[in-house]
Amino acid sequence: MLKYQFPKDFVWGVAAGSYQVEGAWNEDGKGESIWDRFVHSPGNIKDGTTGDVSCDFYHRYKEDISMMKKLGYPSFLLTISWPRVIPDGTGDINRSGIDFYRRLLTCLRENGIKSYVVLYHWDLPQKLQERGGWLNREIVAWFENYAKRMYAELGDLVDNWITILEPWVISMLGYWRGIHAPGYRDYSAALLAAHHLNLAHGVAVRAFRASRLTGEIGIKLNLDMIYPADQNNPEDVAAGRRCNAEHNLLFCDPIMKGEYPEEYFELLKTKGIVLPEIKPGDMELMHPEIDFFGLNNYSATYVKAGGDWPLEYSLVQNGRPQTQCGWECNPEGFYEIIKWVNDTYHPKKIIVTENGCASNDWVDDDNTVDDSIRLIYLKRYLQAAHRAITEGIPLKGYFVWSLWDNFEWAEGLTIRFGLVHIDYQTLKRTPKASAYWYAGVIKANGFEV
Ligand code: FCB
Repeated sequence: MLKYQFPKDFVWGVAAGSYQVEGAWNEDGKGESIWDRFVHSPGNIKDGTTGDVSCDFYHRYKEDISMMKKLGYPSFLLTISWPRVIPDGTGDINRSGIDFYRRLLTCLRENGIKSYVVLYHWDLPQKLQERGGWLNREIVAWFENYAKRMYAELGDLVDNWITILEPWVISMLGYWRGIHAPGYRDYSAALLAAHHLNLAHGVAVRAFRASRLTGEIGIKLNLDMIYPADQNNPEDVAAGRRCNAEHNLLFCDPIMKGEYPEEYFELLKTKGIVLPEIKPGDMELMHPEIDFFGLNNYSATYVKAGGDWPLEYSLVQNGRPQTQCGWECNPEGFYEIIKWVNDTYHPKKIIVTENGCASNDWVDDDNTVDDSIRLIYLKRYLQAAHRAITEGIPLKGYFVWSLWDNFEWAEGLTIRFGLVHIDYQTLKRTPKASAYWYAGVIKANGFEV
């Protein structure tokens, strides 16, 4: 028995997302996505790079899956690129796109690796953006149609499904902060997008149940524990409540309880924000039962009063060690958010669908990568996960973000999250020390210190 021994049926895996790793952005009939458009517009990406090639997973998937198998990673969480399979978003299927995913999923099966397939990780077909994207309510029907076709085309090869990935990022960073595609800066629009995302999740789960496919389905939400910068300052405490409502409740409440956070919506009304029109039946539609609650978490958020309209809060650092992208290593916050999800919503089970550490790694002369910071980070977070399990929380799985270094959205190729190093000149893959450490954890189903 190891000090941190995990339950027998615990799911271990690694995660990645279509746009960030596939490359082949305009090959074999793939349509343009909003991210293709965004990265090709100057000034949007920190280092001016794109995901045009990135890890070139599209062409190198066999090599990568064989590496996963060698390392003994039992599950892989990946995304279908909507414009690769339906270039215009609605209408004709691109057979080459479907063939790619069929070959990839078959290869995973042949290697004994279980798949968790995400329907949407931000790369909306540009053609749908031109019809209003997430601001057009018709997107709920477009998404339902896409989901149904994927269930029919790929369902026999997929083990588990995930509807939507991080609706907070899609709506708040894409429609309010403007730092992600499509680059809008309008709070009312962000709320409308959020409403449509919640609905799209609901219809996709219902369509899955109707398909009678086996396997499980869930959603992936990026949640953070939100703490007031100063517990004793009532204004910071109130700012924390506002931030929590926007970051966590706006999605968890409708999806898990079929309601929107009232206090937050009331506040927004007083700020002149246009609330999304909620049609009869909407709230019901958003909360079909899910099989697992996918939680993405990297850090915790500290908030003080004062900041930009409409919520007037700002983020502060808390003095903990920071990873390469400036996120603090905060395993206590990780434990607390898992517990909060469980205590508040009582999901059947929780799976940590993303957790990981960015660090500035390089390959040494002897072809090794000493990423000890990532290793320590992962260890601390897994200790926190273990604590949750020993307290009886149904935490059933954990996925590291990410298998490889990859295209990190607005940060381009400057940030490295991989267990495996990528040389972007040669595309050579080199497993880092953390990749081997994680392989050992999986093999022993736990670790000692
Ligand atoms: C998450 C995203 C993922 C990656 C990690 C670091 O928010 O889902 O694509 O960017 O952060």
